[in-house]
Amino acid sequence: MRSTVSELLSSDKILQEVYLKGWVRTFRSNRFIAVNDGSTINNIQCVVDFENTDEAILKRISTGAAVAITGTLIESQGKGQKVEIAVTKLEILGDSNADEYPIQPKKHSLEFLRENAHLRIRTNTFSAVMRLRSALSFAVHKYFNENGFYNFHAPLVTGSDAEGAGEMFKVTTFEANKAPLKEDGSIDYSKDFFGKETNLTVSGQLEAETYAMALGKVYTFGPTFRAENSNTTRHLAEFWMIEPEVAFNDLDDNMDLGEDFIKSVISYVLEHCKDDLKFLEDRLLQEEKSKPQAQRSDMPLREKLQFITENNFKRVSYTEAYEILRNCKPNKKKKFQFPITEWGVDLQSEHERFLVEKHFKCPVILFDYPATIKAFYMRLNEDGKTVRAMDILFPGIGEIVGGSQREERLDVLLEKMKALDIDEKELWWYLDTRKFGTAVHSGFGLGFERLVLFVTGMSNIRDVIPFPRTPQNADF
Ligand code: 4AD
Repeated sequence: MRSTVSELLSSDKILQEVYLKGWVRTFRSNRFIAVNDGSTINNIQCVVDFENTDEAILKRISTGAAVAITGTLIESQGKGQKVEIAVTKLEILGDSNADEYPIQPKKHSLEFLRENAHLRIRTNTFSAVMRLRSALSFAVHKYFNENGFYNFHAPLVTGSDAEGAGEMFKVTTFEANKAPLKEDGSIDYSKDFFGKETNLTVSGQLEAETYAMALGKVYTFGPTFRAENSNTTRHLAEFWMIEPEVAFNDLDDNMDLGEDFIKSVISYVLEHCKDDLKFLEDRLLQEEKSKPQAQRSDMPLREKLQFITENNFKRVSYTEAYEILRNCKPNKKKKFQFPITEWGVDLQSEHERFLVEKHFKCPVILFDYPATIKAFYMRLNEDGKTVRAMDILFPGIGEIVGGSQREERLDVLLEKMKALDIDEKELWWYLDTRKFGTAVHSGFGLGFERLVLFVTGMSNIRDVIPFPRTPQNADF
C-alpha cells in the first residue's frame, strides 16, 4: 500500500517495507534524495545504495522528477529528520530536465514565481500557503455548519449591481461591434443570450438576503468579480468572498458573528497547520532581517495570530475614528496622502492602518458610517445621516470585512433607491422581501484572500490565490 510522506514521517513502521510516490526536491552526494508529495511541507530523505543501483537510473534523478520508491523505513542516522528510507527499489515515473526546469533548489523571487504560477506550487512557500488556504476554506464551512447556517450558492451571472459601484464585467454572447442596436443607437440587450443586460456578480448578498428571510441563517462562499482598475497588493479582479446573512440579527449581533467567526477559523489553522505556519513564520523572520529596524514587525507570525484569537476587537464609531484621525500627528503634519478634513470623508487604507497599527494596536470594527459613502441597502440610523455599516480592519491588511444591518423598511429603502437612481423594476424581487414578512437582518462579506494574506503573512494578494486575475493579467 502506498503511504504519504506525512504518514511516514509520523509513523512507527520502523524496519517495515514502505512504498511511496512523489517528486524529487534535491539529490545530493549521489545518495540522498529528498522526496516531497505535497502531503506536508517536510520532505522524506531516501537513501540510495548507489553501488547497487543502475547508473542510468541515478542519472535520471533530478529536481522535479516523479519517482516511486520502495524501501525500509529506518531511524535516521543524520540530523534534521527522525526517519528515512533505505531504498531497495527506485523507479523514475517522469523525468525532469534539470537544465530546463524553472524551479531550482534555490531561492526564487516571488515575481519570478508569479510568472510560473503553474509550477510555483512546487516550492515550500507556495505549498504552505495553498495548504493553509485549503484548511481555512474547510474551517469556514465547518464554522457555519456547526453554527446552524445553510450554505447558499449565489448565482454568478446576475442582472443587478449589488454594491452600486458599477465595476462589473459584462456577460454577453454578442461579438464586439456586431451587437444589434436599438433605434437610438444603444445596444439591444433584449436580443442577447439572457434577454437583458447581465454581468458577473460583485457580491451574492442581495440573493442571500432572500434566502435568509426563509432559512434564517445562510452563507455564500464563492467567486466574485470586480472590474475596478486597482493595481494594489490587496485587490483582485476575481476573488472569493464569504457572505453570511442572518435574519433577526442587528448590527451588534453582526459584529459578534464577524469577530467570533474570524477567531474560530484562525484558531483552527493554529491547531491543525503547525508545520506550514512554522515554515512561513521562519520565512518571514528571515525576510525581516533584511529590513530596517523601524519597519520590522514586532511579533512572529503565530504570535500575531494568537493575539487575534485572544483579544477583543475594538469597536469604534466612524465619528469617533474621524476625531482621532483629524487630530492625529500624521494628519496635522500633512503626512496622509488623503488629508482628513471634513466629517463624511471616506477612509483610505492609510487611515485604516493608522487606526489599527498605530492607535489601537488591535483589530478594529468601525461602525455607523456616513450614509453618503456606503451602499443603498444599509439601514439608516435615527440621525438620518449615518447607516448601520461595519467594517473590520486588520493590521497589515486594512479592511478585511464589510457588512451592515440591512434596511428592512420598504418606504425608507425605496426613498434611498430613488435618490441613488436605482431602478426599482430591476430589484422587484429584492423589494418583495420588504413587503412580505420583513424583519431586521444583517450580514457581511469577508474577502477570503485577505484572510489568507493575514494568516500566511504574505504581502501580495497575487501570492495567496492559485492563478490571480488582475488588470492586464489572466494567464494560465
Ligand atoms: O466591502 P465589500 O464591497 O462588501 C460587499 O460586497 C457586501 N455586499 C458584503 C456583504 O455585506 N454581504 O466587500 C467585502 C470584502 C472586503 O472587506 C474585502 O475583504 C473583500 O471583500 N474585497 C476584495 N478582496 C480582494 N479584491 C478585491 N477587489 C476586493 N473587493 C472587496
